[in-house]
Amino acid sequence: MGIVNQDNITDVVIASLGKHGDITGRQREIMAALITHLHGFIKETRLQHHEFLAACDYLARAGKLCNDNRQEFILLGDILGAEVLVDMMTNPVAGGESESTVLGPFYRENPPVMPKGGSIILKHYDNEETVYYEGYVRDEAGRGVPGVTLDVWEDAPNGVYENLDPDQPEYNLRGRFETDENGHYAFVAVRPVPYPIPDDETAGELLRFMGHHPNRPGHVHFIVAKEGFRPLISQIFDADSAWLDDDSVFAVKESLIGKFRPARPEHGTDLHFEFDFVLKEAAGTQAIAAE
Ligand SMILES: [Fe+2]
Repeated sequence: MGIVNQDNITDVVIASLGKHGDITGRQREIMAALITHLHGFIKETRLQHHEFLAACDYLARAGKLCNDNRQEFILLGDILGAEVLVDMMTNPVAGGESESTVLGPFYRENPPVMPKGGSIILKHYDNEETVYYEGYVRDEAGRGVPGVTLDVWEDAPNGVYENLDPDQPEYNLRGRFETDENGHYAFVAVRPVPYPIPDDETAGELLRFMGHHPNRPGHVHFIVAKEGFRPLISQIFDADSAWLDDDSVFAVKESLIGKFRPARPEHGTDLHFEFDFVLKEAAGTQAIAAE
């Protein structure tokens, strides 16, 4: 078999899998499904050659935008709802553990290690609202877990992440904290503001092609990790933020929404935010944020 027509092309290509080299069962499963769905997509839309070439050009331009500070393909996957779906497939919620959501393209590894209660605000803005964030990290039995690392990152009050903004100090609004002997964490940061994902290049082209907007509701990113537990990549969302019910990357989960409340005098901030996390025990897993 090798002579193709519209009816047999999918079977012919799938039959080529592993013909001239060993492939794993997982490779075969992924490629057979990819070929089947790709061919189905082409037939369903009756894709024309000039449209295929436009797609190739688009992907080439997206690739050229990628560098240490920008990962355009994660953005494209987010806009299509792909990353949040992959995350839900990877981390199904089976018990009382906290829900995960997308990592997004703005995480930086090895943020500054900070003492409990420390501030990650390195630059001030006229419109900033300072916040004392605190809560407990517990196991599924409700016990506080000591020694859990929390990598935290958020946008500045101008709506831009530090690594995309030459006017912010390095690692502004990024830090790594650890729970105390009771599983309690605390830090000072700002209330996150809604922001548009970078929509000046190919991500923006995709959004306009879809007729969608680039805006995300206010949120703080977390990676909560300790050896012996499934690492939790998640975000917490401002219950009073714009775009909460129409996130451009579809990352909002009901259980991840929290409320900013008036500050307590002893904290010296404008607002107070409490949020607890529950980690799922998973023997043998590595703490990905512990290096
Ligand atoms: Fe974000």
